[in-house]
Amino acid sequence: MILPIYALGFPVLNKKAKDIESIDETITTLITNMWETMYNAQGIGLAAPQIGKSLRLFIIDTEQMMDDDNDLVGVKKAFINATIVKEYDKPFDYEEGCLSIPDIRGNVTRNSRITISYQDLDGKQITEDYDGINARVIQHEYDHIEGKLFVDYLKPLKKRRIARKLDKIKKGEVSAGYRMKFYG
Ligand code: NI
Repeated sequence: MILPIYALGFPVLNKKAKDIESIDETITTLITNMWETMYNAQGIGLAAPQIGKSLRLFIIDTEQMMDDDNDLVGVKKAFINATIVKEYDKPFDYEEGCLSIPDIRGNVTRNSRITISYQDLDGKQITEDYDGINARVIQHEYDHIEGKLFVDYLKPLKKRRIARKLDKIKKGEVSAGYRMKFYG
């Protein structure tokens, strides 16, 4: 089932999400719906707060972004109760966007490698390292469960330049090409 994506302005997007106590049928159904919602919006990642659930859960699929020229292998996975334990290596700029903030893109500087600990669908605790695009998409989605958005990191000048557009998104004066829910 395709769920509406919550737009910038909803308090749930600025709140630190809560741990999932048990990975039951409610959670697996939610994850199935999140995949459907993400692909419908042509996204590469989606976090539970973006569909109005303050839970430490996000999904990513970077396989869609990889072509033959890439030596990186894409990742298609659900991350439950994740914690980034380490972010390191060279910081680099990358233009990010977000399904909750349609039509806005901006450069964000982040470290290029991470170590993340999370649970898989079976509840198994896993610790893995990621780099490049995979690390970047995970960092963006991880921010969602920490209550942060990529626009928070933009430089003051850029922030001023997009301020009006952000206000419009909050009020619902935007068309995204997928189902959204607006706060204002
Ligand atoms: Ni996002």
